[in-house]
Amino acid sequence: MRNKIVAGNWKMNKTLKEGIELANEVNNLVSKSNNKSVVVILGTPFIYLAEVNKIIDPKFISIAVQNCASEPEGAYTGEISVEMIQSTGAKYVIIGHSERRAYFGEEEQILNKKVNLALAENLIPIFCCGERLEEREKGIHFDIVKNQLDKALFDLEESEFRKIAIAYEPVWAIGTGVNATPDQAQEMHRFIRNLIVERYENETAESISILYGGSCKPSNSNELFANPDVDGGLIGGASLKADDFFAIINSLTG
Ligand code: 13P
Repeated sequence: MRNKIVAGNWKMNKTLKEGIELANEVNNLVSKSNNKSVVVILGTPFIYLAEVNKIIDPKFISIAVQNCASEPEGAYTGEISVEMIQSTGAKYVIIGHSERRAYFGEEEQILNKKVNLALAENLIPIFCCGERLEEREKGIHFDIVKNQLDKALFDLEESEFRKIAIAYEPVWAIGTGVNATPDQAQEMHRFIRNLIVERYENETAESISILYGGSCKPSNSNELFANPDVDGGLIGGASLKADDFFAIINSLTG
């Protein structure tokens, strides 16, 4: 059985006070529901990590960071290493988000280093992949995603690969209000799982959670999550409102 996961990615939003409020609200809703069938993750900004960690009940909620350094330690002003992240209590690290790729020039080689560093520090990478609009329009979206996975992930030993989660986030759906249709999501998630079958064992492919991200909200999460290969979501805008985020979590349960 693979994990059902709903992870919020707060991106560069909220002040510390607002972040604490949001974490409190989500924590109250999730812990009161006493539902452990979904892994709930809050992807907070680094500087809120320690505070948010004090608030959440780890029986119900885990913390992700949104990035990590591609070097283990040293003179890299402004960077945050996997060891530093691990020492705060975070469990997950989002790697390869399309915003990191687009605005910070992160490419597969660097992402591969980050994935390896994170795994060595017992952090779970949530590896993001996905095509841009023009790539989908050209019909090369499968090639793009395959290339991303080939270069950043598929050199991992099977035992290491099994620890990660993957998020398919078509760039054209992120923050646009235009989500992939359930069929488009299922088609790409199946494609990704088939790639894993080709590279590793079938059992490994069946054990990896593949999340969908891109304008996922309470009004569409039900139908997106109803697909057999969609194991949850990576949620941006809708994770900034506790009620919306909780509704999305519940649609995965249902
Ligand atoms: P939105 O849910 O705001 O489209 O963002 C998705 C995303 O990028 C999550 O990582």
